[in-house]
Amino acid sequence: MEDSFQAALQSVHESTLTKLAQAVTEEELNRLKIETLGRKGKLTLLLRRVRELPPEGRRQAGEQANTVKQELEAKIEELLIHLHDEGKRQALAQEQLDITLPGTPLPRGRVHPITQVMARVVDIFTRMGFQVEEGPQVELDYYNFEALNIPHDHPARDMHDTFYFSDEVLLRTHTSPVQIRVMENRHPPIQIIAPGAVYRRDSDISHTPMFHQVEGLMVDEGISFAHLKGVLTFFVHEIFGQGTPLRFRPSFFPFTEPSAEVDIGCVICKGEGCRVCKGSGWLEILGAGMVDPEVFRIVGYDPEEITGFAFGMGIERIAMLKYGINDIRLFFTNDLRFLRQF
Ligand code: DAH
Repeated sequence: MEDSFQAALQSVHESTLTKLAQAVTEEELNRLKIETLGRKGKLTLLLRRVRELPPEGRRQAGEQANTVKQELEAKIEELLIHLHDEGKRQALAQEQLDITLPGTPLPRGRVHPITQVMARVVDIFTRMGFQVEEGPQVELDYYNFEALNIPHDHPARDMHDTFYFSDEVLLRTHTSPVQIRVMENRHPPIQIIAPGAVYRRDSDISHTPMFHQVEGLMVDEGISFAHLKGVLTFFVHEIFGQGTPLRFRPSFFPFTEPSAEVDIGCVICKGEGCRVCKGSGWLEILGAGMVDPEVFRIVGYDPEEITGFAFGMGIERIAMLKYGINDIRLFFTNDLRFLRQF
């Protein structure tokens, strides 16, 4: 009995060691562990047989079996840990990342050309001390026309091709109503610009139903046409280049007196005369003038005490001249091939 126990123990011991030496996967090791040391494992069953042995050899047999058990347990544990580490090492080796590979490019967005030109214009005037003001795009007839000295029957209304919501409510056709809103609420000195979208019922190669303007207004005691010329000359030289010639041509607006239109030397032909400037060598870029005393009276200022100038320009027109674009609609059809050039 004792001898057969020894033989069985030795057999389990050796066969297990042999199998362990051949095991390559975690599953194999775990299976071996259960086969040998599990609840019905070969070694476990053998250990249970110890108490059936004759008393003389029982103790020694028990000790031997336990030593084998501990040895096998330790061996399996060691192999499992080794396998686990090895697996990790291989995974890391395979997952190596080549950080020198070129990345996936993300498409880069751009600022819309009109937004760019608008920002440029606003920057030039704010550097001269003008403050930025805004007004509503849905405007009252009173601010868009009446208070700007354009009564109901005035022929100037025809030029504006207005979108009306009702007799009194409309989409503003220019940024000039912001002048009135600012003067109604403040005392001079006033030095503001009002950038924003305006609307007219018009659509062709040089008109879109929505476009952008920047209005300017400077009011105080002693403001003269010379100040207007100084401010606009600085502006033109900043936006179109230092050498750009400009001229003030007499004109008419109901809210300014005297009124002028400002032309710059044609940016295409440099004054020679071409198709763009219709042979004149000049391009109109904005309207301006001295604020009409009637407008001052309407907002409650005394025209005997204060004077002021105003101007208004279209941003799309300036962008077209600056970039040599001949169709205003290109700005709003969102063709990326066009927009990506700016
Ligand atoms: N509001 C005018 C327009 O849209 C432009 C303009 C002209 C504005 C003369 C002014 C000005 O402030 O003084 O056609």
